[in-house]
Amino acid sequence: MGYVAVQWNRAKYIYDAVLIAGVVLYLAVFTGIEVALHPPKNYLESIDVRIKALGTCAFLMLTIILCIGPLARLNPRFLPLLYNRRHFGVMMFLVACVHAWSMVEWFWLQGVLPSLVDELTNWPNYLKFIGFPYKTLGLLALIILLFMASTSHDYWLNLLGPPFWKAMHMAVYIAYGLVVMHVSLGALQGNRGLFLPILIGGSFAIVTALHLAAGWRGRAIDRGVALDAEGWVPVGPPQSIPDKRAKIVAAPGGERIAVFRDGDQVGALTNVCAHQNGPIGEGRIVDGLITCPWHGYQYQLKNGCAPPPFPEKLATYRVRLKDGIVEVDPRPLAAGTAAAIKVPLNA
Ligand code: HEM
Ligand code: FES
Repeated sequence: MGYVAVQWNRAKYIYDAVLIAGVVLYLAVFTGIEVALHPPKNYLESIDVRIKALGTCAFLMLTIILCIGPLARLNPRFLPLLYNRRHFGVMMFLVACVHAWSMVEWFWLQGVLPSLVDELTNWPNYLKFIGFPYKTLGLLALIILLFMASTSHDYWLNLLGPPFWKAMHMAVYIAYGLVVMHVSLGALQGNRGLFLPILIGGSFAIVTALHLAAGWRGRAIDRGVALDAEGWVPVGPPQSIPDKRAKIVAAPGGERIAVFRDGDQVGALTNVCAHQNGPIGEGRIVDGLITCPWHGYQYQLKNGCAPPPFPEKLATYRVRLKDGIVEVDPRPLAAGTAAAIKVPLNA
């Protein structure tokens, strides 16, 4: 299969413009307030302000990135944020780089760069709680973020395969943990008001709560429903599937199946998009095609095939109507097999 990059489009430009405007606005407001409260006396102190503004900005962006996934799972209104999340990640990495560079500049301007190296290689300090070389934790996080930003392009996704790529990108949680430690063992040790503890504590609480809530919701789907005697999974009356949307059910093995309805046509597909494992069942039917909520790949309801000339195909499932209830056979058919049916809507 050839590699086809997702093209630039108007929505992506708008997303990026809003992102850049948000970063600039945050940095301006943070710097304005910080300078008004504690006016810097010299250039070195103004670098301190920059380190704080950029560090908290990157941390806030990382928090938002981690919240987008579970939020979109809990409420489809957040799906537009999921779209193009990778640009958000790359931009956060750039902000974090300038934050780290500002600290190097701080040492460099005073001609004491070697003492930065001494600080990072003072091994006994790694056993201390107060005085731990917290910059190393930031550095490790930055290395992980660099790795992720540089492999975020679809080229790598295609080369490495979606399951491996996705697993690799779970390292963002390790980076987040390292940054929380970086701030807890560094800036939080100096008593400088409430903003930072609220930012770090609030972020940790929100990220954890959203992941637990989305996981709970996922478990409710995975627990599934009783199969009938022939092993088919009941979905519900046709009208219980929202028009142009899907209901997600779980096969006994845990595999999720998206059962879509387009008017009186009902069809079932794997819930896993061929592009990047996105949750197809959280998308909707646009212009007669099932559209993945993540990057807009499209598939036909009748057979799970992408419209020509695109080569992607999804596994489909047999569906039937029994006693007014749509049922799905959880044994997948070969990708691209036609399996949708017509259902009476006033049954
Ligand atoms: C090479 C990597 C890094 C270095 C050398 C570094 C260095 C520093 C330094 C020197 C401070 C100031 C500590 C203080 O004022 O006591 C700091 C604070 C901070 N850093 Fe980093 N950092 C790095 C990576 C990161 C990353 C990747 C993030 C977030 C994504 C981050 C987020 C923060 C935050 C939120 C603060 C607290 C800002 C404040 O004092 O208000 N840092 N960092
Ligand atoms: S995961 Fe990218 S379009 Fe579906």
